Amino acid sequence: MSETRRFSGKTTLVTGAAGNIGLAVARRMAREGSNVILLDLDRAKLEEAAASFDTDDVAIGSIVCDITDYAALENELDKAESAIGPVDYLFNNAGYQGAFAPIHDYPVEDFQRVVSIDLVGAFHVLRAVSRRMVARRSGSIVNTASMAGLQGPPNMGGYGSSKFGVVGLTQVASKDLAPHNIRVNAIAPALMGPGFMWDRQTELQASTNTQYFSTDPEQVKKEMIAGVPMRRLGDIEEIPGTVAFLLSEDASYITGVTMPISGGIL
Ligand SMILES: NC(=O)c1ccc[n+]([C@@H]2O[C@H](COP(=O)([O-])OP(=O)(O)OC[C@H]3O[C@@H](n4cnc5c(N)ncnc54)[C@H](O)[C@@H]3O)[C@@H](O)[C@H]2O)c1
Repeated sequence: MSETRRFSGKTTLVTGAAGNIGLAVARRMAREGSNVILLDLDRAKLEEAAASFDTDDVAIGSIVCDITDYAALENELDKAESAIGPVDYLFNNAGYQGAFAPIHDYPVEDFQRVVSIDLVGAFHVLRAVSRRMVARRSGSIVNTASMAGLQGPPNMGGYGSSKFGVVGLTQVASKDLAPHNIRVNAIAPALMGPGFMWDRQTELQASTNTQYFSTDPEQVKKEMIAGVPMRRLGDIEEIPGTVAFLLSEDASYITGVTMPISGGIL
């Protein structure tokens, strides 16, 4: 696909930017002319990610921050906006998958941890950034939900409920922010790989020993792919184009939508 430079002179904040999806989207936004502020909890991975940009026509900034800490987030955003520029676009994407266990065995602390990152953390970022956008009467936001937020997969109580929450947050925020000329959409990826997330997910589903999956991770992979109408995994590089589209003026009348990136699983 040919790319244009729809975001020249603008600034994009990407959370979870040291991770697979965040970095792929950050790279796409930079290629399309946007300055990028990379935010992640993991300092070492974030430094590596920032060093991987070989561009001299856009600015790349980094924020090491835990999105569960609202005060730290506000503080770091102030500094990054002063250094790089006001945030025009937000990819609100940091996330954590958590434990895999049926609800009656699901670890209580892990449930709280997943919700505090995937839902409360996403709200923190949305609040802190949209306040700034409201003051400027302009902005576009994409949240990362998941197919787990549109269907409730077994053994993923913390993650599934948090991602349902992200879909709800997207719908509420799209209405709250429409009067301020700000659009809010979400993506719902499913079964991306190969890679660490795919291996972890299939190994942990196999280990739950429930009726839904085989106890052999390789068999779980086959079972899951058999449930995808397109009969293959999604590639991480199939995500950035959709996010860039939703952030851009090409999607100027689209808000409140959660777009599955799922090979046909609905
Ligand atoms: N990969 C998939 O198959 C898949 C499918 C559906 C949804 N998702 C969602 O996509 C998003 C990105 O996932 P990914 O595959 O790139 O995973 P990843 O693990 O590669 O990246 C997630 C990043 O978020 C960061 N992070 C976690 N907690 C944080 C916190 N409290 N504060 C700041 N940063 C934090 C991590 O350090 C990591 O770099 C997540 O929200 C995930 O739930 C992924």
